[in-house]
Amino acid sequence: MYRSHNCGELRIGDIGRSVTLAGWVQKARKMGGISFIDIRDRYGITQLRVDESCPASVAEVSSSLGREYVIQATGVVEERQSKNEKLDTGDIEIRLTELKVLNASQTPPFTIEDVSDGGEELRAKYRYLDLRRNPLKKALMLRHRMAVEVRNYLDRQGFLEIETPFLIKSTPEGARDFVVPSRMNPGEFYALPQSPQTFKQLLMVAGYDRYFQIVRCFRDEDLRADRQPEFTQIDCEMSFVEQEDVLNLFEGMMRHLFKEVCGVDIAPKLPRMTWFEAMDRYGSDKPDIRFGMDISEVTSLVQGNGFSVFDSVPYVGAIAVPGAAEYTRKQLDELTEWVKRPQVGAKGLVYIKVNEDGIKSSIDKFYSPEQLQAVASKAGAKIGDLVLLLCGQKRKTQTQLGVLRIEMGNRLGLRDPKVFAPLWIVDFPLLEWDDETQRFYAMHHPFTAPKPEHLKLFYSDRKEDLEQVCANAYDFVLNGTELGGGSIRIHEADVQQRMFDVLGISREDAEYKFGFIINAFKFGAPPHGGLAFGFDRVCALFGGQETIRDFIAFPKNNVGRDVMLDAPSRIDDAQMDELFLKSTANE
Ligand code: AMO
Repeated sequence: MYRSHNCGELRIGDIGRSVTLAGWVQKARKMGGISFIDIRDRYGITQLRVDESCPASVAEVSSSLGREYVIQATGVVEERQSKNEKLDTGDIEIRLTELKVLNASQTPPFTIEDVSDGGEELRAKYRYLDLRRNPLKKALMLRHRMAVEVRNYLDRQGFLEIETPFLIKSTPEGARDFVVPSRMNPGEFYALPQSPQTFKQLLMVAGYDRYFQIVRCFRDEDLRADRQPEFTQIDCEMSFVEQEDVLNLFEGMMRHLFKEVCGVDIAPKLPRMTWFEAMDRYGSDKPDIRFGMDISEVTSLVQGNGFSVFDSVPYVGAIAVPGAAEYTRKQLDELTEWVKRPQVGAKGLVYIKVNEDGIKSSIDKFYSPEQLQAVASKAGAKIGDLVLLLCGQKRKTQTQLGVLRIEMGNRLGLRDPKVFAPLWIVDFPLLEWDDETQRFYAMHHPFTAPKPEHLKLFYSDRKEDLEQVCANAYDFVLNGTELGGGSIRIHEADVQQRMFDVLGISREDAEYKFGFIINAFKFGAPPHGGLAFGFDRVCALFGGQETIRDFIAFPKNNVGRDVMLDAPSRIDDAQMDELFLKSTANE
């Protein structure tokens, strides 16, 4: 028996017991004739004591210990003289009768403490050491608890967890696919699934009316704090449902998770906002509604006064930043440079300061104080506030204002990670026109159904009509992050075919890529719909963070590399030959 207890469980009631612990040396220190060793495992830390009453062999081993040595320690539980309130085991210590080194350790390249001295790259290289630290341990424990509670809830609701394949057919529509060469089928490739979308719809055709899966998905896309090339979804689909059924059921799941995992009660009925309202008010389809600073359109108030910047654009919008009227010239210049960065893309920034003693603005020359006051009032500004204005094409400017709003929210400390403000965004447009490629793309994905009342528009050949078609598509948004999304699906072969036509996918191409699903829809496909949550994102936000990396045991870095494995990497020539591959890299 290696241990009788773990390193986090002994308490004052255990005094006098003879126990054996096994774990890692967190630290060892000597104070006069007494040595203290902190032993750590997944469960916690316990103090071991070596003094003159211990056998000489124990003192000898204890003096040889280094950080992260794996040890086995036997002794008697005693009350500690100076207690440590920060530790659960802080009332006791173990006076040792035996001490064994199970394995020595090199000095770790960084400290295994809550706040480590190691940089990100170094910790990623030694991820298994980083995972010994409390913050990561807590993150993975939270992830486990979430997975258990997801399964509990969905099982109780009659869902079946069914696995779907990873080696599938490449059908890029959205992100790029990761592909896998096939040795047995020379020159042909599998793709790794971006999501199990088509399979879950086929399961509906097969009659499995409530499906879910906690499943890995793969997307070759540019990475951000909330994006990994391989990530996990809570993927769900239901038959014989309308949007309302799906929203209610998954609102219930999120409520259950908030309650069970965080001990937080969320509103009995979550707010719902249409996509159009979200864009107009927050310049984002994933609005952070923990704070105000809504966007207001002020176009008609500022045009026709000879200020050509505003006169020459279709849209002028404003936000009122509370209490920021005291921003200095320098701060405003810095903010102007900030909105001009490519990530925001604005051409310039106009401000109006609403001071006790009147209005001050960068466009005083063109407008009377009354006119500027009218703009400020429309933006909802009070005395002491700073109104910021951007202009240009409507949606683009709203998006820029949305980014500025989040930045000001951050600067003013309005985005408290302990406050949860979930909501549904509904009624998304079905299609999105892309000027560059001169074609429509599916805003969610090509299997999303048009709203039944928009079906006629959907069959129109006019671009303007198609732009107006909305879908019963919905996103679950929390604190400015899209946690999940889904839709009611197309379940009729002819509507699905029409969708591929609208997307400019030729009949042959549609048949080649999606023939299996068009065909399946000819054999009695039930009305169905569903959604998928980004599991890593749900875990991160519940853990009070926006970066998902710490909630994944072995994540990739921001250029998609696993720095611990040093992957991706080249494969040898024999392997390349076997797969009928030839690389043109570095040619
Ligand atoms: P969607 O593409 O919106 O929908 O993905 C669902 C959720 O998955 C998460 N997510 C990601 N998380 C981490 N890294 C990524 N690269 C990443 N990409 C997406 C997001 C997102 O909301 N099949 C549909 C769902 C459906 O219609 O049922 C789908 O995949 O949180």
